[in-house]
Amino acid sequence: MTSTGKLCRGKKGQYTVTSHISTGGMGSVFEAKDQNNRDVVIKFPATHRANGILMAPGYYLEVVKKLKVEGQVLKNFQTLKPKCIVQYIDESYDSNDYFFVMEKLFGTTIEDKVSNTPLPENEVIQFSLDMLEGLEFLHKHNTIYRDIKPGNVIATKNGRCVLIDFGTAKQGITQHNSNIAGGNATGFESIGWTCPEQNSGRASAECDLYALGRVMFFMATGIKPFRLTTPTGKMTKKMHEIKSSISIELSELVDDMIDPEHNTVHTANGLKMILKTISISKSGNVRPVRIKSNVNGNFQTNGSQQGLQEARIVLEGSEYRISNNPNGSLIGKNHDPVMCNQSNGGCNNNHEGNNIFVGWNCPSGCRCSLNPAHMLDKHHMRIWKNHLGQVCVINNDPNRRSAINRLGKWMPMIHLKKEILKNHDQVALLYNEKKGPYLSFTFYTK
Ligand SMILES: Nc1ncnc2c1ncn2[C@@H]1O[C@H](COP(=O)(O)OP(=O)(O)O)[C@@H](O)[C@H]1O
Ligand SMILES: [Mg+2]
Repeated sequence: MTSTGKLCRGKKGQYTVTSHISTGGMGSVFEAKDQNNRDVVIKFPATHRANGILMAPGYYLEVVKKLKVEGQVLKNFQTLKPKCIVQYIDESYDSNDYFFVMEKLFGTTIEDKVSNTPLPENEVIQFSLDMLEGLEFLHKHNTIYRDIKPGNVIATKNGRCVLIDFGTAKQGITQHNSNIAGGNATGFESIGWTCPEQNSGRASAECDLYALGRVMFFMATGIKPFRLTTPTGKMTKKMHEIKSSISIELSELVDDMIDPEHNTVHTANGLKMILKTISISKSGNVRPVRIKSNVNGNFQTNGSQQGLQEARIVLEGSEYRISNNPNGSLIGKNHDPVMCNQSNGGCNNNHEGNNIFVGWNCPSGCRCSLNPAHMLDKHHMRIWKNHLGQVCVINNDPNRRSAINRLGKWMPMIHLKKEILKNHDQVALLYNEKKGPYLSFTFYTK
């Protein structure tokens, strides 16, 4: 049994145990000091079950085996020093018991930090970006984590989030072998967090992103998502229905991530891109742009009302529905003042200035509305819903480079070549390799 003051000799250094942190189903975690008085954390195999009863020898051997896997996974990444993953330091045996040593993280678990107090949206986004950073690294290295939950993530004092507890991480999982039908090759269930196919033995990288979605739900609302999950795995409420200050973009994204049917295929990198856009439009990191309509703030144009609820874009933090009108809506920006006046039909709308425009028909029907160049002389696109209900976008501007972001990759758009938008695709009215996207919007199908 490990106790305070105990000296543990590792392969590289020696460590004096200073205090006990926790004992879970697998490990006993202790704080310790290395020979240079630096703080570290040591994980030993747990000797007792949660109810205090000594483990049967067979079970104990299983625990040791798992702990060795955990140490090995972290050791494999030691030289790469991935961000947002706890750093391995050392390992050895203490009277035949394997243990490993890792960096001490100063902070609290997400579980403790949130308890019943939800986090502000910018913090939810920042923490999620950190977790995605860690997951992206793991997935690139054919590793699935399998146990994303609030108790396994530490929010450090310097505002970062770091993944700990690699006891169930599985290495050697590629896109091709993750979905091993019928077997139980990658099963592991953390009730309330892991996704149905993982629970039945078919975990994949996407399962980590599902569990992350559930952690995001918890961070943003303070409610553990299992409380609002129906027997079919669907949520009874979206985040913005629980807390109205949560942006619709974040709420929809999380709803999509925790959809048990995985209607959208996510990747860690793709999610990072979407979250960054949400955070930029919220934080005002981009030059603030006043959005102005040529239809008195109402962007529903002449199209049928049918289906208008379903497709929309979010541009610089504001939401617009997409019209069924085959002429679609134009999205762009004016640099030069253009005023409607009596000579072109008598519309009093002021179309000048440095505003983003979304719209097409001027309600008064003045001539300016028939000439999009009068309203939108720079960086413009047209967006509309076709008869099949697909949302189409074209880059109208021959001289400028717009781009579309699918699954995290920006691709230049060809002038007048139609693209069909999919849920969460992002489009930038301008895109520059060095500066990145400018005036981007995100498309949602529901
Ligand atoms: N590197 C670390 N730095 C600081 N605290 C840690 C560290 N690793 C674990 N802990 C603490 O110990 C607890 C249990 O660790 P964890 O690895 O999740 O063990 P278990 O396998 O029992 O779930 C964590 O919730 C956290 O509070
Ligand atoms: Mg844990």
